[in-house]
Amino acid sequence: MNEKTTLTQFMIEEQRQVGGSGDFTGLLNDIVTACKVIANAVNKGALVGALGEAGVQNAQGETQKKLDVIANEVMLRSNEWAGHLAAMASEELEEIYPIPARYPRGKYLLVFDPLDGSSNIDVNVSVGTIFSILRLPPGAVEPRLEHFLQPGVRQVCAGYAIYGPATMMVLTSGHGVNGFTLDREVGEFILTHPKITIPADTREFAINASNERFWEPPVKRYVDECLAGTTGPRGVNFNMRWIASMVADVHRILMRGGVFMYPRDTKDPSKPGRLRLLYEANPMAFIVEQAGGLASTGYERILDLRPTELHQRVPVILGSKNEVARIVGYHREPA
Ligand code: AHG
Ligand code: MN
Ligand code: MN
Ligand code: MN
Repeated sequence: MNEKTTLTQFMIEEQRQVGGSGDFTGLLNDIVTACKVIANAVNKGALVGALGEAGVQNAQGETQKKLDVIANEVMLRSNEWAGHLAAMASEELEEIYPIPARYPRGKYLLVFDPLDGSSNIDVNVSVGTIFSILRLPPGAVEPRLEHFLQPGVRQVCAGYAIYGPATMMVLTSGHGVNGFTLDREVGEFILTHPKITIPADTREFAINASNERFWEPPVKRYVDECLAGTTGPRGVNFNMRWIASMVADVHRILMRGGVFMYPRDTKDPSKPGRLRLLYEANPMAFIVEQAGGLASTGYERILDLRPTELHQRVPVILGSKNEVARIVGYHREPA
């Protein structure tokens, strides 16, 4: 008898406990299959001509990499046919994607960042896929943009795949966070990191320090205090990391604690943050909170925000509970 728990087994057992229909497990299976296909393309890289730019821009004016386009296609094709979804939305698509009429429609909505950390693809640094599952609001027939604009607290499930030295899948459906590692020979994700928790305290922070001149005073104060080390108000030395793939930076925090910040800054007044609420901030906030951490904009809990646009950007400060609470506290103090 095999003592290893596969992701599929794990999900079926979890669904049984909460009396789920199995529909959701089917959907998750399709997402997992898509992530295996994307992992394969990422791993083969230059061997299959998958690196470099696609030569087009996405809805947000970013130049798409070939793998952004490939990963987006894989997610759409893997998840449109089975009848679990009513519609999808993606970083790489300007509008929502209602399930085509040739397929049956289901009760869920899927939102995703098909390839997170695009700038790292061509330099062989970890990238990932982030997703969030919502319910189509009751009574809705034809899926519309407004149906996606639900606060993060309503997520049914959120997760990410990280394509690193090992490919892993980290998931929550509101009962804690579990991590699975892809066994390539077997082709299955195996439960390797049950019940992930983020240490409440940390001496490590992650921020793109090249933006320092644009930071608001509370963030500047926090980072200055960390940098001051043993002679500063914190009295300890801090370490800094910045991978520039949110999945990889958040994964490190889930594994050993830390704080991740892409805060509000004054770089571009039209953008209140860098990261996107629906397919970056919300799924990661759900995972981090389920692992015992906190996720805030500095001013509000991310999961309570009421989205107004599909590609809305928000400030993100997440990770170890006591440090995030401290940073939020600095935002409350008068400047
Ligand atoms: P994406 O590749 O999906 O567009 O997301 C990139 C994001 C995120 O992964 C990362 O934390 C951040 O952009 C990095 O931004 P900087 O290049 O400003 O450091
Ligand atoms: Mn992008
Ligand atoms: Mn991203
Ligand atoms: Mn992306």
